[in-house]
Amino acid sequence: MNADARPRGVPDLTAMKAAGRRIVMLTCYDALFARHLDAAGIDVLLVGDSVNQVIAGRESTLSATLDQMIYHASAVRRGTGMLTFVDLPFLTYQVSIDDAIRNAGRVMQETGCQGVKLEGGGAMVPTVEALVERGIPVMGHLGLTPQSVHALGGYRVQGREQAAAERLARDARALEAAGACAIVLELVPAPLSRDVSASLTIPTIGIGAGPGCDGQVLVLPDMLGLNEGFKPKFLKTYADLATTVQDAARAFAADVRAGTYPDSSQSFE
Ligand code: KIV
Repeated sequence: MNADARPRGVPDLTAMKAAGRRIVMLTCYDALFARHLDAAGIDVLLVGDSVNQVIAGRESTLSATLDQMIYHASAVRRGTGMLTFVDLPFLTYQVSIDDAIRNAGRVMQETGCQGVKLEGGGAMVPTVEALVERGIPVMGHLGLTPQSVHALGGYRVQGREQAAAERLARDARALEAAGACAIVLELVPAPLSRDVSASLTIPTIGIGAGPGCDGQVLVLPDMLGLNEGFKPKFLKTYADLATTVQDAARAFAADVRAGTYPDSSQSFE
């Protein structure tokens, strides 16, 4: 891989870590934004099951379906050829390894993405191994795993206690040994994610996990300032699109009500 190039394939992620290049990942759910993120030089797209909350307006990710993920991932792939991972939704990979292979296989076949992401540590290791052995790249996800939000008692920082921190570090090493190509660390204390990242050859990609990860990911509508009222400590917003969208809609409404849009320049003789 050219040292300055964006990753084209899954092995490039480990090469980027080895070269000390931080990985930039954003979530994406449609072709329109995929084109913009490609033009902006983002490294990796994640069709996250967060789509179920930020786009579909549901309470959590738990009700996301495989068809929903395939619909959004296919749209993203029509917008860009960038390296793209797709979340396997709740209950599409936990029931049996056969299920996981069939469902991850469908995602790969029907969307053309390069890999899937799934949540969990120890219990998921045989599943990760089985998928990787069958040629399906897997990104892990540890720390706050949103599909377990009820078991975890809410969206809160994980791995603060010694035992939980040791378990997370152990899970990360087990996922790497099982063949995972990268691990998302969500809502993890910065010193823990720094140490975990240093202990692995595969990259970690953090969200609310401090600067010591090998890359960072944010949920696109959150970082664009579209998700008004959602202001967790870790989030940095890079635009205020909520204001832009509402101002534009108000200006359009005012023009229509005043009869100033369309004028003759926007009409056909
Ligand atoms: O679903 C999602 O968007 C995610 C990110 C928060 C990493 O899993």
